[in-house]
Amino acid sequence: MKNLFDKTKIKGMELKNRFIRSAMHEGLAGNDGEVNREILDVYEAVAKGGVSTIMTGFAFTMEGENPTHKMLAAYDDKFIEGFKTLTDTVRKHGANIVLQVASGGSQAKFNYRKRKIYGPSAVEHKFTRITPIEMTQEDIKHLVRAFGDAALRAKKAGFNGIQIHAAHGYLLSQYLTPYYNRRNDNYGGSIENRARIIFEVFENMKEKAGDDFPVLIKINCTDFMEEGLTAEDSRFICRKLDEMGVGLIEISGNVGFNENEPRLIRPGINKDKTRQCYFSQYAKAVAEEVKAPVSVVGGNRDFSMMTEILNDSKIEYFSLARTILCEANLANKWGQSQAYEPKCISCNQCFSLKQGNVCIFNRN
Ligand SMILES: Cc1cc2nc3c(=O)[nH]c(=O)nc-3n(C[C@H](O)[C@H](O)[C@H](O)COP(=O)(O)O)c2cc1C
Repeated sequence: MKNLFDKTKIKGMELKNRFIRSAMHEGLAGNDGEVNREILDVYEAVAKGGVSTIMTGFAFTMEGENPTHKMLAAYDDKFIEGFKTLTDTVRKHGANIVLQVASGGSQAKFNYRKRKIYGPSAVEHKFTRITPIEMTQEDIKHLVRAFGDAALRAKKAGFNGIQIHAAHGYLLSQYLTPYYNRRNDNYGGSIENRARIIFEVFENMKEKAGDDFPVLIKINCTDFMEEGLTAEDSRFICRKLDEMGVGLIEISGNVGFNENEPRLIRPGINKDKTRQCYFSQYAKAVAEEVKAPVSVVGGNRDFSMMTEILNDSKIEYFSLARTILCEANLANKWGQSQAYEPKCISCNQCFSLKQGNVCIFNRN
């Protein structure tokens, strides 16, 4: 029988348990995106708190392209020193740390009137109402190189790996979504074409950081919207990335287009277990089809339910976000008592990010 506290390995990276802190943007980085004392304190607390691995909040890879303020930056070598301090701080406490990188595109809420916003096609974003400029093939090459450069920086800074953020409606995710990607060239149309930019990012990262540097991905299991990424197409991408040597596939989903479906940060799930672990059916299907380990994120709250999923499927890891923001030491608490119920009530106040990294239970 598999246990949530099993020791495992992902491409040479040792994990002391199956709990991963999913990427969470803190809104605390310096104005240029640099690591500072506040960032170090957050990560140190999480590292001490018992998860095996931490995905950082999303970092941007092209100067001036940050979709939100005070997010981490990875677009220049000048960030390597700060990242080194971060990776040392985390590793001191026996946890791994993986840099998540993203491109915002039209899903941007920072400084978007003052700069050019790019996207797969000039289609207005459903929430932000921003209509991006369609990227040329040269723009795509530029993006691919920028992600590859970030992987080399991540390696130099001592991260255990890099995670491509291809979920949640940001730029790479939009390429997968037919509604946003109306291109007629080799980056639009079939799923092979829509996913091409992600495959090229993956290859560029491997080329620059070396084959032994783990490249991970976070991806929607489906967009749960009309003209969205389908579950079948999402599994196709996962199979292809598996063949290419992906380190870990983290399954997420729906950004909230359809309120009746499970969504990225589903509210009010604590008293109703049937609404927890809400992408696990999809993650199970992916895990059946790939050799790479699969992690599922979204509403993981109950130790016994996760144990059941672990043993009933090929899902290997459980990613946690809001619960860890609420209680950095949740994994340690489960180590003491499996019956422990996380304090987080999925109120989603943390997501409004009015103040960085704040939970209603621990705000000053
Ligand atoms: C404050 C906050 C910031 C987030 N930032 C990111 C991010 O930078 N990258 C990412 O992939 N997901 C981000 N997410 C989504 C989480 O990683 C996770 O997918 C989601 O919260 C569902 O998991 P949970 O039920 O354990 O919270 C964020 C979520 C929250 C609440």
